[in-house]
Amino acid sequence: MDNFSKNIRSMFDSICGRYDFMNHLLSCGLDIYWRKNMVKHSLLNYAKVFSGGGPQEIIKIADIASGTGDVIKEVITSIDKTGAIFKGRQIDIFCADFSLPMVKIAKRKLEKILLRRKSRVRINYVICDAQNSCFKDSSMDMVFIAFGLRNFSAIDKFLSEELKRIMNKRRSMAVILEFNNIFNYRLFAFFQIYYNYFIALLAKIFSKNIAAYKYLVDSIKRLASDEEILKMFTDSGFKIFNYGKIFPFIVSRYIAIINNS
Ligand SMILES: C[S@@+](CC[C@H](N)C(=O)[O-])C[C@H]1O[C@@H](n2cnc3c(N)ncnc32)[C@H](O)[C@@H]1O
Repeated sequence: MDNFSKNIRSMFDSICGRYDFMNHLLSCGLDIYWRKNMVKHSLLNYAKVFSGGGPQEIIKIADIASGTGDVIKEVITSIDKTGAIFKGRQIDIFCADFSLPMVKIAKRKLEKILLRRKSRVRINYVICDAQNSCFKDSSMDMVFIAFGLRNFSAIDKFLSEELKRIMNKRRSMAVILEFNNIFNYRLFAFFQIYYNYFIALLAKIFSKNIAAYKYLVDSIKRLASDEEILKMFTDSGFKIFNYGKIFPFIVSRYIAIINNS
């Protein structure tokens, strides 16, 4: 793992305890809606595109850069409502992150949810670098990454090599949720002020790690534009199946499949 990723890992290790609270606070609770939107769209689209497959086939879903497991929480609660393809099927979910403290929190949260459900969902917890993971070639049917992409050292390399490698070549979907770089647009002046000043202020009051929240804003400023990210997907051999900005249009959803044509 390179030094850039090592620094990011220790930063996430240090903020894990207040991670959920700060997410909800800084986004005014919108982060819950963003994940719900991404999960609902992707499960419906997956069911539409890949309707085949017998009930004996296990569906494998990876949540990469899973953090405290909120994407998986949405997947578990919506999977039976969103398309016949998931009904009666065994679902194996892989909760993967390189921060052990984050995954420990995810495990505590998700095991409680699983206990309350009679579902065929199994969750495996994996500690690994997303850019060089331990997943087998062509092993995943769905791969989710929410707010993880901008932390990777080279997004284009990740898409063209690692993401493509682990995705099932016949029937898989990559689903990415990420902030968009609003610093490119004058129209978003309100959010630029919010990011530049209010996030720092809230971090000062509610978190001990102000640097982590400075990194949050800097990583958004450094991020490629949506158009550049869309181009990275197509250059990496993916077809964009669904793309959209989610209210209040500061977060984008990318749903991509491997371009086999
Ligand atoms: C902003 S959080 C997002 C967490 C979660 N997906 C969510 O929606 O809240 C980013 C997560 O990505 C993880 N992460 C960043 N770079 C990573 C890498 N190269 N490999 C694995 N995990 C990574 C961090 O440890 C952190 O838990």
